[in-house]
Amino acid sequence: MTLLRVDNLKKYFKKIKAVDGISFEVKKGEIFGLLGPNGAGKSTTISMISTLFKPTSGDIFFKGRSIFENPIEIRKNLGIVPQEIALYPTLSGYENLRFWGNAYGLRGKKLKIRIEEVSEIIGIKDRLKDKVEKYSGGMKRRINIGAALLHKPELLIMDEPTVGIDPQSRKHILDTVLSLNKKGMTVIYTSHYMEEVEYLCNRISIMDKGKIIATGTKDELINIVNGQKVINLKFDKISKELIRKIKDINYISQIEVLDDEIILTTVNENTIFKDIIDKVSETDSNILSIDVKKTNLESVFLHLTGKALRD
Ligand SMILES: Nc1ncnc2c1ncn2[C@@H]1O[C@H](COP(=O)(O)OP(=O)(O)OP(=O)(O)O)[C@@H](O)[C@H]1O
Ligand SMILES: [Mg+2]
Repeated sequence: MTLLRVDNLKKYFKKIKAVDGISFEVKKGEIFGLLGPNGAGKSTTISMISTLFKPTSGDIFFKGRSIFENPIEIRKNLGIVPQEIALYPTLSGYENLRFWGNAYGLRGKKLKIRIEEVSEIIGIKDRLKDKVEKYSGGMKRRINIGAALLHKPELLIMDEPTVGIDPQSRKHILDTVLSLNKKGMTVIYTSHYMEEVEYLCNRISIMDKGKIIATGTKDELINIVNGQKVINLKFDKISKELIRKIKDINYISQIEVLDDEIILTTVNENTIFKDIIDKVSETDSNILSIDVKKTNLESVFLHLTGKALRD
């Protein structure tokens, strides 16, 4: 069953086409990923799904009804974890959850029970009495996620919930998403970390510059670049001459130059290494490492856009 359908959605801020005609469907029970680099339009999309922004054009349907017809009603079904943490630093974790519970119309014993259940899920029970300003970034994130779960939403929408937090909290959040999903929660998860969406998501849309450039399961997306290899070359230094020489090599379909790294996409595995070494030896750069990457969503992104997904 389609829970949410986004139909030719656009959001322009004057000349900036933040979201430029995207369409996708989220099925009940799945974890749907929106993967894209900074500025792709993920948060703008999430804000529209959350009914916080009106689209320039296009529509969003929740269970077949436009969410803009009755946004207040729709919001009861949505649990929103925004990219920017929204908590009161001088209040405790418990008080913050109580605040959000009240905002969702929960009171008294019902709220108390729900806060207990939710703090169990986010694994933060023993620190609930501490002020939020004493929390680590990861703990603040967890409270933010807890706040979104209090009213038992049908659809959980998470906007880059693991940015800037410690690995342990990150792992905890990813596992929380999986276990919520196992119990039936539908999730929209945005990230610019391809490992996370590969790990979590049943289906993924890859977004860039306001457009969706591919949608599918991880395997379907990886099929787009089948037969191609991604090779990472690290150098002691990269010169214009080196880049020019490497670009001369046959069978290279994409080339991305970072600080001390060149990422190549190629269909030829046989002579490519010899060609690379020959070309580099004509320059005064040295190769520090050669790393042949398994095809992953990073390769798909590189293949489709000609640039790396990372920052
Ligand atoms: N309120 C706004 N006014 C003007 N431009 C905006 C506004 N919000 C977003 N933008 C622009 O729209 C584009 C998409 O931004 P958005 O925040 O949706 O991207 P994102 O994919 O969430 O990026 P990030 O990974 O950095 O969070 C960017 O160019 C951004 O500068
Ligand atoms: Mg964002």
